[in-house]
Amino acid sequence: MPDRIAVIGSNMVDLVTYVNRMPSRGETLEAPDFALGFGGKGANQAVAAARLGAQVSMVTCVGDDIFGPRTRQNLHENRIDVSHVRCVEGAPSGVAPIFVEPDGENAILIVKGANAHLSTADIDTAAGTLKGCDVILLQLEVPLDTVYHAVAFGVRHGVQTILNPAPADPDLDLSRLDGLDWFCPNESELALLSGMPTDTDAAVLAAARSLIGRGIRNVIVTLGGRGARLITAEDVVQIAPIRVDPVDTTGAGDAFIGSFARFLSGGAAPQAALERAARYAAHSITGRGTQSSYADVIEFEAFCHALGGN
Ligand code: RIB
Repeated sequence: MPDRIAVIGSNMVDLVTYVNRMPSRGETLEAPDFALGFGGKGANQAVAAARLGAQVSMVTCVGDDIFGPRTRQNLHENRIDVSHVRCVEGAPSGVAPIFVEPDGENAILIVKGANAHLSTADIDTAAGTLKGCDVILLQLEVPLDTVYHAVAFGVRHGVQTILNPAPADPDLDLSRLDGLDWFCPNESELALLSGMPTDTDAAVLAAARSLIGRGIRNVIVTLGGRGARLITAEDVVQIAPIRVDPVDTTGAGDAFIGSFARFLSGGAAPQAALERAARYAAHSITGRGTQSSYADVIEFEAFCHALGGN
């Protein structure tokens, strides 16, 4: 039986503009290209895990507009269980205007729309599904109370919980994440949430350990071009970066987290799961868009083979 992952989180429609440079304030500037895509950190992570073979259920809210049914259909086409996708009457769907520069770097705005309505009641409604999962995967594009409720649910029912605290929210109350298994910030999110600097490896370690001291079991810090670190109370494991020529880095973090959840729930040891996730994320930045750049199992194995890894 495939491993089962529940993603409790957001979906967005990505409005991706490829720019030669960012416009200045008050300036009108022509951009060479545009694409509409399916995104949202929750949905991206769900799609990455599903394309790699996990059985994924998504607990999310779509808007009462033209994007809502298309988002549900996209999840379904990615073999994701949509029984717990709720349409919020009168609310718009979440959207994300995204700007991608020629070097592949991006800037993102998010409008949460219906995602802001994902509630603790949605989790309770999905309880039967959630109890049967190996992993519950969360991000911060939905209300914090919903995130706390989901973590507590996972801890109570022995389901592993992974929280990617993105986008960083200074109101996140770490004391309400007690028992969380995996906390996965990038270095700027770690700095904001720990209140400590993260500009050196030693500082990253100290900041991560300060969270472990507050009830979180394991911290995974993504460091962009410097790879990632798995930090526990006893150990630090370095995950080397994978070098590729970037086309579009949007959604690479989601590719990393979603694939990590898949590899971990599939039985890989944490370090091996992270090394595979680093490769999966590297592959994603060689293509345009978010979900549109995520590999399936065959594409991913071919990429790893070309890299010379496994
Ligand atoms: O992490 C990338 C995602 O952030 C985009 O797909 C966008 O929708 C925002 O949620």
